[in-house]
Amino acid sequence: MHLSDFLPVALLSTLGLVSASAIPARANGSPALTWHVSDFTTGCSPGGCAYKFNINGVETQNTPGFNTTCSGTDTQKDYKACDDKQVQAIIKPETYPMWNIQVKHVWDGGVGEHMTIGKTNVTANTAKFDIPVSQEYGVGAN
Ligand SMILES: *[C@@H]1O[C@H](CO)[C@@H](O)[C@H](O)[C@H]1NC(C)=O
Ligand SMILES: *[C@@H]1O[C@H](CO)[C@@H](O)[C@H](O)[C@H]1NC(C)=O
Repeated sequence: MHLSDFLPVALLSTLGLVSASAIPARANGSPALTWHVSDFTTGCSPGGCAYKFNINGVETQNTPGFNTTCSGTDTQKDYKACDDKQVQAIIKPETYPMWNIQVKHVWDGGVGEHMTIGKTNVTANTAKFDIPVSQEYGVGAN
């Protein structure tokens, strides 16, 4: 039994554990999470590249569902809130034409903050793809 199974994110932050990102996702106890991206587009100009995509996360026993649109640029230094503020995204260029896309879902589960993070690499012209959730914090703590 791992501490991460039960501690809300706020507490993990206090302990300085979140930034370590070495806490493994729960191996069992919650269904494997996958988010579905559609209409992914990027458009580049000399000033940087803009991105836009829709992302849908189906509600599970331990995580609320969402369906929202994210947009921003590759010059942003941190996650940027999507239309649904509980969802945030950041994309970074990998070897052309590959993009690294990271999405964070943060919600208040009643006993503190819960967070899931997923990331994947896709080529610029892939409109539809899935993002596997690879990190969970405080999920299932309530
Ligand atoms: C998500 O929202 C988009 C745009 O509002 C809609 O077209 C799509 O059907 C929704 N998807 C789901 C699974 O609800
Ligand atoms: C994306 O590609 C980079 C470089 O090849 C690799 O280091 C990284 O692990 C990949 N990330 C994912 C989520 O596949």
